[in-house]
Amino acid sequence: MTHVVTESCIRCKYTDCVDVCPVDCFREGPNFLTIDPDECIDCAVCIPECPEEAIFAEEDVPKGQEKFIALNVELAKIWPSITRTKAPLPDADEWKGKPNKLAELKR
Ligand code: F3S
Repeated sequence: MTHVVTESCIRCKYTDCVDVCPVDCFREGPNFLTIDPDECIDCAVCIPECPEEAIFAEEDVPKGQEKFIALNVELAKIWPSITRTKAPLPDADEWKGKPNKLAELKR
């Protein structure tokens, strides 16, 4: 099992999740983070840190968000590691809580 970043993260990327990860399993894309399933130890400390409530245990991924399980696997292979929290995207608060952001995902 692993933990998974879902759609709410897109165009927000608050990165509060990153600092608490004990194994540095986050990977960073232009407007989304993923979790590397090979590194994640399922400690779950990142879950309450995310202001967008974007992170779930794989088994708890909400209905309709299942595609993000494979997307985390795929993108974690090609994106670089991020190990420190940094400023969110400039318009993060405008995108917070918006549904259907998958089309906004940049690779
Ligand atoms: Fe994304 Fe939430 Fe982390 S918005 S970058 S999963 S704190």
